[in-house]
Amino acid sequence: MKKILITGGAGYIGSHTAVALVNAGYEPVIIDDFSNSEKSVLERLKSITKREITWYEGDCNDAVRMRQIFSENQLTGVIHFAASKAVGESTQVPLKYYRNNIVSLLVLLETMAEFGVKDIVFSSSCTVYGQPDQLPVKETTPRKAAESPYGNTKKIGEDILTDYVKSNASVRAISLRYFNPIGAHKTALIGELPLGVPANLVPFVTQTGAGIREKLTVFGNDYDTPDGTCIRDYIHVMDLADAHVKSIAYLQDKGDHFYDLFNVGTGQGNTVMEVIKAFEKVSGKKLNYEIGPRRPGDIEKVWADTGKIEKLLNWKAKYNLEDALKDSWKWQLSLTAK
Ligand code: WQD
Repeated sequence: MKKILITGGAGYIGSHTAVALVNAGYEPVIIDDFSNSEKSVLERLKSITKREITWYEGDCNDAVRMRQIFSENQLTGVIHFAASKAVGESTQVPLKYYRNNIVSLLVLLETMAEFGVKDIVFSSSCTVYGQPDQLPVKETTPRKAAESPYGNTKKIGEDILTDYVKSNASVRAISLRYFNPIGAHKTALIGELPLGVPANLVPFVTQTGAGIREKLTVFGNDYDTPDGTCIRDYIHVMDLADAHVKSIAYLQDKGDHFYDLFNVGTGQGNTVMEVIKAFEKVSGKKLNYEIGPRRPGDIEKVWADTGKIEKLLNWKAKYNLEDALKDSWKWQLSLTAK
């Protein structure tokens, strides 16, 4: 069975991708340092997939550890999620972000070369676009100066892959530019683990709905949008997981050197108020919220043009905003039920 290494595989998107890989007949191998995930996820993956998932505790910056994992597993490819990802934190400790997010990619690429592993799917982000001039945003839209050190590490990651493939290295790479991942597996056994106060909208909404947070603050309603609140493209994490599986399959017949990048979103934009209304509908709860000041660094509106991934990878989001919020809410209830 084709083995795929998932770095950060115990994390939110990584764990859902492990499920999608098993469903598609692959064998995932997980490496995670558990800095932003929990080992309990591994047991839950076993319950969902009905099989033992090989996993290693380790840091992708540790070349010796990476070499050990590659020598113990005949890998077909790698999906690279492992990175520090908190936008706000990255402005406080930029060196941690540059070291962790860049060095881990370099160590991974060098280890892949040493063991003749060619295929890599890199986790990038729509944050590389900043505030696009045209919407929906296409992959050909020029990237803008990053809004944060975190966003810059994603841009640099894409540049590293571009230059490395151009150098005729034996590597076939895809960068996936995620929009806003939300939702959880339908079993509610895995989801976005709430570590600390959520920075992102949907976990804050579900925690407010569950009474863990007193009130949601909507960061500004004076934007140039239908109801004044920011617009984002919220994509179900299982749709996002499937895009990774499709990317690995797509690379199989791409010769010796290959690089391309794809937007991964629903193609649909929703305002913060629309998210709140959809949550109230699926949960039957009235959400306690207030309008507050804008959050510095927020862009006004962004949503994906998904024509390229639909055409080349034959992938299209199956779930809509309500589906995703229903699964997020079910996950939240499972957490509070413990
Ligand atoms: C969405 C909207 C907020 C919280 C970030 C990263 C991005 C990616 C996904 C990693 C915005 C509003 C939020 C709240 C609010 N992360 N909001 N009240 O900022 O689009 O993207 O997460 O890859 O790189 O930048 O997502 O969920 O933080 O915000 O009103 O308590 O919800 O202003 O308009 P964002 P978000």
